[in-house]
Amino acid sequence: MNQTRARGRFITFEGIDGAGKSSQIAAVVALLQARGLTVDQTREPGGTALGEKLRELLLHEPMNLETEAMLMFAARREHLAARIHPALEAGTWVVSDRFTDATYAYQVGGRGLDAAKFSALEDWVHPGFQPDLTLVFDLPPEIAAARVANTGTAPDRFEREQRDFFERVRAAYLERARMAPQRICVIAADRPPERIRAEIEAIVAERFFR
Ligand code: TYD
Repeated sequence: MNQTRARGRFITFEGIDGAGKSSQIAAVVALLQARGLTVDQTREPGGTALGEKLRELLLHEPMNLETEAMLMFAARREHLAARIHPALEAGTWVVSDRFTDATYAYQVGGRGLDAAKFSALEDWVHPGFQPDLTLVFDLPPEIAAARVANTGTAPDRFEREQRDFFERVRAAYLERARMAPQRICVIAADRPPERIRAEIEAIVAERFFR
């Protein structure tokens, strides 16, 4: 039978560092796979061989803030061209730890760069393309910072930022959610993981499997 497979869906996870996305991403991937879907789990910056090299630089190499912003989009362009678009076209669902909302939150909200420049970059890198669903993990920066401190690994360029930086990042995420309520769901992340997981499962079921 020559039946074309339906296009995959694109789900992204966002939030300040230490918001607790990782285990919930794994749960969503398992949930989708249990429904018989093929799922590609990825992350930004990163997701391709080149993107992972750029990630290494972005997380550890001192650089000008506009260089940082453009490298985020360069890595994203590669990610879309080499991995995300082909996967979605093949019917694979793509779950990414961060995407363009992170650039608005961190580079515009946190770093204070001019938002107007970013819509031009966004239109260049992914014209007319957005995630089908974005889950923003929201919690007070002081709780998130305590979680990051407990991981025992050396903090990267972003994790070393102070609380006011993460307050701005958080506010930028919430503002984006307010502007795109049909795409972005805010998850209260300072709750037990099982509760968060149940809420996310309900959101995914309602959004895609009703
Ligand atoms: P993350 O994968 O959450 O880091 P970790 O592996 O430590 O959990 O994200 C890496 C960092 O990159 C994070 O601090 C946010 C930052 N970032 C931006 O500043 N802009 C972006 O566009 C993206 C995708 C990430």
